[in-house]
Amino acid sequence: MTFWKSFFYNNINNSCTKIIDKENILLIKNLDNKGDLFDIYLNINHDINLYDLEKLCDSVGWVRRPIKKVKIAIQNSFLTACLFYNNNNKKELIGFARATSDESFNATIWDVVIHIKFQDKGLGKLLMSQMIKELRYYDINTITLFADPQVIKFYKHLGFIMDPDAVKGMFWYPI
Ligand SMILES: CC(C)(COP(=O)(O)OP(=O)(O)OC[C@H]1O[C@@H](n2cnc3c(N)ncnc32)[C@H](O)[C@@H]1OP(=O)(O)O)[C@@H](O)C(=O)NCCC(=O)NCCS
Repeated sequence: MTFWKSFFYNNINNSCTKIIDKENILLIKNLDNKGDLFDIYLNINHDINLYDLEKLCDSVGWVRRPIKKVKIAIQNSFLTACLFYNNNNKKELIGFARATSDESFNATIWDVVIHIKFQDKGLGKLLMSQMIKELRYYDINTITLFADPQVIKFYKHLGFIMDPDAVKGMFWYPI
């Protein structure tokens, strides 16, 4: 956790308020996963093992990204959320999401993922609800994301709408 992430600068009062840094919040006790019971925890803005994150992304078949770039992306994120369970005192990462933000009006959620073996148990919904709750705490009113076609319904369930007022997302890529 870097110093700049430890504080939220309140421009209006010109004062500093401690930003969310929450560790090991018990979200679900005894989640049943094929007969095995798991206590599921949430970490907000806490250290992330990049290799564990890579393994989690591998589980859903995402194309690998350079770990150095992932590290920078995480360092420059406003909010990160991890779901995990304890396995002999080792944290097993099973969910992740992050958001970038101007810390006033807008935030964009990226890299929402639940480990393939823990999907369809409500964890994605729970993770997203926590992300929204944290962003709303900072009075951020516009939360956006880019949905792969196969997960549009998942986000719609959470209240996300497509093309509000016919506004279209536009992209620029190097040719
Ligand atoms: C998308 C993802 C995060 C959902 O997580 P999950 O834990 O499986 O989802 P949940 O169990 O919390 O489902 C919540 C609701 O969304 C629905 N849902 C989940 N995945 C869905 C999908 N792919 N399509 C349609 N609905 C879906 C569930 O049926 C459930 O509906 P309900 O509230 O009526 O019961 C997870 O499937 C995943 O990691 N996928 C691979 C990575 C990915 O595609 N990420 C999104 C990139 S934009």
